[in-house]
Amino acid sequence: MTILDQRRSQMLGQMGITIWKSRPFSDHDSNGEELSSEDGVEVDEDPNVTNVLEPERFTSLEEVASAVRGCQRCPLSRERKYAVPGTGSPSADWMFIGEAPGRDEDLQGMPFVGRSGQLLTSMIVALGLTRDQVFIANAIKCRPPNNRDPVEDEVNRCKPYLKAQISMIQPRVIVALGRISARLLLDAHEKTPMSELRGDVHTYEKTGIPLIVTYHPAYLLRSPDQKRIAWQDLLLARSQLRRGSA
Ligand code: URA
Repeated sequence: MTILDQRRSQMLGQMGITIWKSRPFSDHDSNGEELSSEDGVEVDEDPNVTNVLEPERFTSLEEVASAVRGCQRCPLSRERKYAVPGTGSPSADWMFIGEAPGRDEDLQGMPFVGRSGQLLTSMIVALGLTRDQVFIANAIKCRPPNNRDPVEDEVNRCKPYLKAQISMIQPRVIVALGRISARLLLDAHEKTPMSELRGDVHTYEKTGIPLIVTYHPAYLLRSPDQKRIAWQDLLLARSQLRRGSA
């Protein structure tokens, strides 16, 4: 067993999974984003704001990240330390999409760097990948105060950034982490329960990209007995990706 295999087994152990068979998976270069802090997008009071900021206006992931960093389209921008555009490979096969930055992410400007981030990293490593090989983003790019759920207006104002990121990366599979991200990506009603969202292979808009919903790592930290189910979701996601390459 190589050191990498040992590390993966450890990660699976942390996820509560004891049996694991190693499979070579992705050969992407690790290619982190180089982001600058120009090109901000200013507050737009138009309630129909999703029509004002068209995802098509962006021509690169760097441009999206710069716009996110300077964004003032909703009041969350006034309370943030850093906006969190997302990070990872611009040609990732996998996109993991969480809800919104928490305290640690707000302080560092990076997604999933706190406790739930450690669990997400374990999940990614258990799949035989590294964080650099996937793309990790959030539905909402700024931290809601006290980690409250984002409101509909905040979601709508932020949505074009994620849409632009997905359309530029063109991942082969999307994993929605938790109900907020799942509802946003599937345009589901805000009361749709997780039990109706997970377990199926959805498709992201009209792109044909398979989308799998799983539990948010923060929920898994509170309910470790659900980690097995989350692992099944990840295997379902991986099966979609393999199917795409057959
Ligand atoms: N939770 C999320 O949904 N996203 C993060 O980046 C961190 C915690």
